[in-house]
Amino acid sequence: MLQARAISKTYESAAGPVPVLEDVNLDLNLGDALSIMGPSGSGKSTLLQILGLLDPPTSGQLSFDGVEPWKLKEAEQARFRNTRIGFVFQDHCLLPQCTVLENVLTPTLVGERDDTVIDRAKELIERAGLTPRIDHFPAQLSGGEKQRVAIARALIRQPKLLLCDEPTGNLDEATAWQVLTLLAELQKEMRGILMIVTHSPAIAAEFPRQFTMRGRHLERTA
Ligand SMILES: Nc1ncnc2c1ncn2[C@@H]1O[C@H](COP(=O)(O)OP(=O)(O)O)[C@@H](O)[C@H]1O
Ligand SMILES: [Mg+2]
Repeated sequence: MLQARAISKTYESAAGPVPVLEDVNLDLNLGDALSIMGPSGSGKSTLLQILGLLDPPTSGQLSFDGVEPWKLKEAEQARFRNTRIGFVFQDHCLLPQCTVLENVLTPTLVGERDDTVIDRAKELIERAGLTPRIDHFPAQLSGGEKQRVAIARALIRQPKLLLCDEPTGNLDEATAWQVLTLLAELQKEMRGILMIVTHSPAIAAEFPRQFTMRGRHLERTA
């Protein structure tokens, strides 16, 4: 389903090239769930950005759903990203002027959509336990609630790949577990690939497959 072959990434900076990833390989199938740990600056976000079609690799091949998405033209690539990939970041990145429902619907504002999308948004909001908050604005929500909205938004297009970059990094422990449980439940139903970057060994250990970024390489640790 998703294959990464010999992915490398070197950033060019004023001080010279900054090599971040070297020979990263991954083979994932629908339904896989994995965690990635590793020190700050080890390239975890860089890897997610490459897999999520946000920033190109310097070399290597990515194949996803039978397509090599980094070889697509920009417009096709944007469409591919929008329909197949969901993101949850450490910061919820909600639009402050939009309600919970509107935020969840934002990925459907571009590209095709059908009439079921509003029902689906309401269902996801229900699953996230936020139905009483559906017309509230982000400023009226707690950190955990905002992150649950971000998860509903990431899943509205039923992506085959859900990339979460330290999604619980700003939350207290109890809230972090609630958010994680919601992610795991919804992902299981969607049967996509769930990839989560975390600094918490306890959270990382919940996943069937565990990886660590070390010395520019992605090592499987469990
Ligand atoms: N756009 C960029 N330009 C130059 N260097 C970058 C850029 N983005 C990240 N880096 C560097 O790449 C390394 C890995 O960053 P990142 O992937 O964000 O690590 P992590 O998510 O594991 O903390 C860091 O040394 C960082 O400073
Ligand atoms: Mg990071």
